[in-house]
Amino acid sequence: MIGFFDSGIGGLCVLSEFRKRFPTFDFSYYGDRVNCPYGDKEDEEIVDLTEKGVERLFDEGAEVVILACNTATVHSIRYLQQVRFPDKKILGVTIPGAEKIVESGYRHVGVLATEGTVRIRAYKERVHILDDSVSVHEVAAPELVPLIEQGIVKGDSVRRALLPKLAEFRNIEALVLGCTHYPLVRTEIEALLPGITIVDPGFEAAAKFAAYLERHPEIEGKITKNGTLRLSFS
Ligand code: DGL
Repeated sequence: MIGFFDSGIGGLCVLSEFRKRFPTFDFSYYGDRVNCPYGDKEDEEIVDLTEKGVERLFDEGAEVVILACNTATVHSIRYLQQVRFPDKKILGVTIPGAEKIVESGYRHVGVLATEGTVRIRAYKERVHILDDSVSVHEVAAPELVPLIEQGIVKGDSVRRALLPKLAEFRNIEALVLGCTHYPLVRTEIEALLPGITIVDPGFEAAAKFAAYLERHPEIEGKITKNGTLRLSFS
């Protein structure tokens, strides 16, 4: 089974991309809605909450855990992979997003993300490891996640939250949805930024997972495949 962790419902967008590509795999999703949003929390709290969520998925029997949350990924993935669960497989969504930017040859990109992700310049750092000549402008949109968690994904309040943030992007070729909740407001973003290519790291993570499994047949062989889905939320 593949486990998915997010602070709330945003990671369901990532899960949905994986289910489209791997329909026979078993999936278990845990969203920590009680503690959502993570975006405005201190680093240590994000790491602590993510660790608990990931542990829960491994206890359930996950062979691989996908951190379907940018904020959780950028603050905790190194610690979780290298220190806390060195014998387990944990993958995030930010590297596939950064790779897509560089592979596509974009020179000027925007990243819309949570405060927690923007604060540590997470996408800029990951893109610049691959190509430091790409200009990466990161903007935080803290009002969006609470709206989306209430099921508000279009209309005036979403546009009001988006407009001043999107106005900060000048001359970009592509916009990265640097929070897994944002694909849920993608229609509004596209309407406000016509002609700009949207990069969805969750989509990219699912696309790259097939190649990952080809490189790691031992993991592919362990993943149970009964087409089941379990959803749980705090
Ligand atoms: N969905 C998460 C992300 O990708 C976090 C949203 C939040 O809890 O602030 O960053």
